[in-house]
Amino acid sequence: MAPPFVSVTDFEEEAHKIIDKKALDYYRSGAGEQFSLNLNREAFRRLRIRPRCLRDVSNVDTNCTVLGNQLKWPVGIAPTAMQKMAHSDGEGGNAKAAGEMGSVFILSTLSTMSIEEVAQVAPDTCKWFQLYVYKDRSLTEQILRRVEKANFKALVLTIDAPIFGQRWADVRNNFSLPSHLRLANFDTRSSQSDGVHSEEGTSGINEYVASQFDATLTWKDVEWLVKSTYLPVIVKGVLTAEDAVLAREFGCAGIIVSNHGARQLDYVPASIEALPEVVKAVGDDIVVMLDGGIRHGNDVFKALALGAKMVFVGRPAIWGLGCGGSAGVREMLKVLKKDFEITMSLTGCQKLKDIQRNMVVHESEYAK
Ligand code: FNR
Repeated sequence: MAPPFVSVTDFEEEAHKIIDKKALDYYRSGAGEQFSLNLNREAFRRLRIRPRCLRDVSNVDTNCTVLGNQLKWPVGIAPTAMQKMAHSDGEGGNAKAAGEMGSVFILSTLSTMSIEEVAQVAPDTCKWFQLYVYKDRSLTEQILRRVEKANFKALVLTIDAPIFGQRWADVRNNFSLPSHLRLANFDTRSSQSDGVHSEEGTSGINEYVASQFDATLTWKDVEWLVKSTYLPVIVKGVLTAEDAVLAREFGCAGIIVSNHGARQLDYVPASIEALPEVVKAVGDDIVVMLDGGIRHGNDVFKALALGAKMVFVGRPAIWGLGCGGSAGVREMLKVLKKDFEITMSLTGCQKLKDIQRNMVVHESEYAK
């Protein structure tokens, strides 16, 4: 890694020079014409911060407890698939860095290191597991038992991916998992393990998902999942008050407001735009979190002011990994944490509870 890296963008630019082109396209792309991908950033830019002054910020405290997990700050790492394409440290390196920085790491079902390998490399990290439900339900049940045994602390059920969205670059590239890697949570001999291969004019990951994931899922299956494990169940991919209310009704402990890094349906709102209606509907009852477009400390601040209890970064962790493996992720998180602390100091917030709803307004308020 060549310093100085002062912002997440520096990691992104460096990683773009290092990561193989097909993998890079897979990591950075959004769905369709990528309107929502750009919106995930643009919507943050349209929010203004109203800082307060003279409030003793000599000791800024970012500690928090989320779903019973004590964290050093309210930023975790979102699940992203196939991380060994970015660096051989892979998911284990990412998880280790998260632990060193007092964050949560969410492991994707589609990982290139297994549940057990990640637990071994990062035993002290607070780890959650992101679940995709396979057509073979017994396979899902086996995964649940392995996740519990490996001491993961929560289950994150992704509900916005019955099939995968069209990411044009992956189709053009005939994207597939490099042959030295495999989906490590599955038996090497099984079709679930290394099936990410593409035909001409297709994306291997989309083909894989269509053949393996259970697209019949409904909220009844969420009820099944909640009953099938003692871990708290979080649903990821909620963008409406209606689905937030159902998540509460069907026993979920938390929600991640997310548009999947704008990789599923184009023209959905930015996550930060959808956050207020979800918070209004269920924010007093269950833990509302957010991912999508978080790149700066002030983005974290804005999401917390609008009612998120914590946020997650997806691509930034991939860029950190690409730049320097586990150490690169740690450095990226350090940069982001420092930026968040500066934002807290300069807004007069000593503790997270001082970040109030009226400290963030839409730019249109200033145009009146
Ligand atoms: C993802 N995301 C994702 N989500 C999930 O539930 N399971 C997964 O396996 C993946 N895989 C994945 C791969 C890549 C390359 C990306 C970029 C994203 C979505 C992810 O968890 C998260 O919602 C977004 O990445 C958040 O947006 P940012 O931080 O990347 O802007």
